[in-house]
Amino acid sequence: MKKMRFVVSLLTLLSFTPITIADIDTVRQNELLYFVKHDCGSCHGLTLKGGLGPALLPQTLSAKPESYLVNTIMEGRANTAMPPWKSMLTLDEATWIAEQLQQGLIPPTQLARNKKPAGNP
Ligand code: HEC
Repeated sequence: MKKMRFVVSLLTLLSFTPITIADIDTVRQNELLYFVKHDCGSCHGLTLKGGLGPALLPQTLSAKPESYLVNTIMEGRANTAMPPWKSMLTLDEATWIAEQLQQGLIPPTQLARNKKPAGNP
């Protein structure tokens, strides 16, 4: 009977494990979030609303195929300012970043959060 209970709890545990395509640990996720804000943000804007590069927001990215975005991140775009990142990111990490961008899961930067609305000191 004890064994049965063990199996049941094991199954429960497994069924609650979140399924993600790109499996990146939390420490690396934080590094990647920092990386996106600072390195990608230098062209795409600190709040990813665009600058030299286009906006990287769910509104502009969610309809595009994930593989297309991952490929852009890894290989860059020839004859544009978008550089390749494959020397700094693994395929899994680029996939994770693309997913975060498409779903709008990258939190606003400290800078954006601290910015007070105009006329409201
Ligand atoms: C030196 C400037 C620069 C940096 C740094 C940069 N990008 Fe870009 N990125 C661009 C430009 C310019 C484009 C548009 C290329 C084009 O015209 O097709 C672009 C395009 C993209 C696209 C395609 C967007 C779309 O709508 O098709 C993605 C995704 C992207 N960048 C992600 C990133 C990520 C992630 C990083 C950081 C790892 C990053 N970029 C860093 C300049 C940059």
